[in-house]
Amino acid sequence: MAEQTDLSRRDLLKAAGAVTAAATVVPAIQGAPAIQKVRAANEQVQFGMIGTGSRGTYLLKHLKNIDNGRCVALCDINQENLGHGVTTIANNPKTFKDYRELLTQKDVDAVFVTVPLFVHFPITRDALMAGKHVFCEKCLVFKPEEVHALRALAAEHSKQTLQTGLQRRYSYFYQTVKQMVDKGILGDVHHMHAQWHRNMINKPSSLWTMKPGGEGNIANWRVFRSMSGGLTAELTSHQVDVADWMFGSEPEFVMGLGSLDTLKDGRDINDNIQLIYKYPKGQKLTYSSISTNQFLPYFDGNRPEMGEIIMGTDGTVEITVGDDVHPAIAWWYREPPKAAATVTPAAGQKKETFVAGATMVASGGANGPIPIMTSDLQFTGQEGFLNREVKFARRWLMAKGVMLQEEQRNPVDVELESFFQNCRDGKRPLADIEVGMADAVAVILSNLAMDEGRKVYFNEIDKLGLPGAKKS
Ligand SMILES: NC(=O)c1ccc[n+]([C@@H]2O[C@H](COP(=O)([O-])OP(=O)(O)OC[C@H]3O[C@@H](n4cnc5c(N)ncnc54)[C@H](O)[C@@H]3O)[C@@H](O)[C@H]2O)c1
Repeated sequence: MAEQTDLSRRDLLKAAGAVTAAATVVPAIQGAPAIQKVRAANEQVQFGMIGTGSRGTYLLKHLKNIDNGRCVALCDINQENLGHGVTTIANNPKTFKDYRELLTQKDVDAVFVTVPLFVHFPITRDALMAGKHVFCEKCLVFKPEEVHALRALAAEHSKQTLQTGLQRRYSYFYQTVKQMVDKGILGDVHHMHAQWHRNMINKPSSLWTMKPGGEGNIANWRVFRSMSGGLTAELTSHQVDVADWMFGSEPEFVMGLGSLDTLKDGRDINDNIQLIYKYPKGQKLTYSSISTNQFLPYFDGNRPEMGEIIMGTDGTVEITVGDDVHPAIAWWYREPPKAAATVTPAAGQKKETFVAGATMVASGGANGPIPIMTSDLQFTGQEGFLNREVKFARRWLMAKGVMLQEEQRNPVDVELESFFQNCRDGKRPLADIEVGMADAVAVILSNLAMDEGRKVYFNEIDKLGLPGAKKS
C-alpha cells in the first residue's frame, strides 16, 4: 500500500514535470544573473550534474528515486564517464563536455559538483555566479585562498542554496546521538575517537589505485597532492565533521603525523595518518586512517573500516554510517553508576518508568551494549532479554526528550531530498556553507600540521591564503 502511494506520488510529479513551462529568468541586475527560480511548489527542482565519475554516478543512482528533483543535464570531460551517467539516470538528459555550457542552460535550477577536489571551487564559484543552487561534494574547497573567496561569494549569493556532501548530518542515528550528547545522557562528553582503516594491499580500491600516466592522468587525482587532500580530505573530513557537530564547535588546534610507508607507486599522498584535535572546551578527537588493515574494534568487530566512538562520563556511543548494503549502527554502553547514587522513583512516577531506569543502570558499564534501534516500542511480553533492554532504553531516552527515529533510509537519500527541498523553501541546509567550510578548513590545516610537524591553530586560516601570506 505504501509503495502504491509512493508510486502514484512519483507519477504525479513526473507528470507535473512533463508540462513544465520554460524557466522564468528574471533579467540580471547589474550584470549578475538572477537566481534560477524553482518553479511552482509542486514541481521538481531541475538539476544538472558536473562530474559523472564514481560519486556522481552513485548519486545519480539515488537521485533516480528522489521525487522532488529531476535530472535535465549532465557534464563530464570524460566521454566514457559521461556515458555511465546517462545510462544510470536513464531519462535522456542533455550532455556537455564543458561545464560552462551546462551553466548557461536556463532549465537548470541547481547543480551537483561531483568533480575532483581541486576543481570544486572554480566550478562552485561559476555555478553560484550563474544563479544556480549548488550541492558540492565535500570538501567544499581545496586551498586557503578559496576559503576566503567562497565565503565572500556565498555571502553575496545568500539566497541560493549551497550544500556540501556530508551525509552523516542527515542520518537519523547521528541526529539521535547528537540529542543524547546535548541532553547530557552521556554525561560530559570530552573524548571522541574515529578511525577509517582500509586494507589496500589485500583489497585494492580502484579509486586509490594508480592508473597509467601518473600525475598527468586526472583519473589519479586522489593520490597526488596537487589535486587532492589525500586520506584527510577523502575520509577524515566526514569524521572530523562528526566531532565538530558533537562537540558543538570547530577545533582550536590540530597536531599529527602522516607518512607514505607502503603504497610507494609514485603517489605523493600519505598512506597513513594520525591526528589529534583539541577543541576549545578541552575536548579531544583522536583520529587514525591507515591503508594496510581494515579491522574496526567496534560492534564486536562485526563491521570493518570506519566508525566513531563518543565517550562521556556517563556513557559511550559507537556509531557508524551505513551504506547501500549495511544500515547505520549505533551501540550505547553505560558507565558504572556513581558510587553514592541511589535510584528512587519520584513520587507518583509510574513503576514501569522506574524499572526502565533501574534496568539501564544495573546493566551498565562493561556489561554490554544497547543497540539504539528497534522498530517497535510496545512490549508484547514475548521479548528476549536484549530486546527488552533495547525497548526500555529507548523508552527511557524518549522520556528524557531524545526523539528517536529509525534509520529507514540511506542518509544520502535524505541529503538529496533535503537539498531540493531547501532549493524551494530557502531554508539553510543542515550541511550548509559554515559546516562545509569548517570541514574544509580542518582538512587543509590537518595536512599542514602533518607536513610541518607542528601544532596548527585553526585561527591561522584567517591569514593563510591572503595576498602576501606564505603558501600552505
Ligand atoms: N560524500 C561522500 O561520501 C563521497 C564519496 C566519494 C567521493 N566523494 C567526493 O566526490 C568527488 C568526486 O569523486 P569521485 O570518486 O567521483 O572521483 P572520480 O575521479 O571517480 O570522478 C570525477 C569525475 O569528474 C570528471 N571531471 C574532472 N574535471 C572535470 C571538469 N572540469 N568538468 C567536468 N567533469 C570533470 C572526471 O572526468 C570524472 O569523471 C570528490 O570530491 C570526492 O571527494 C564524496
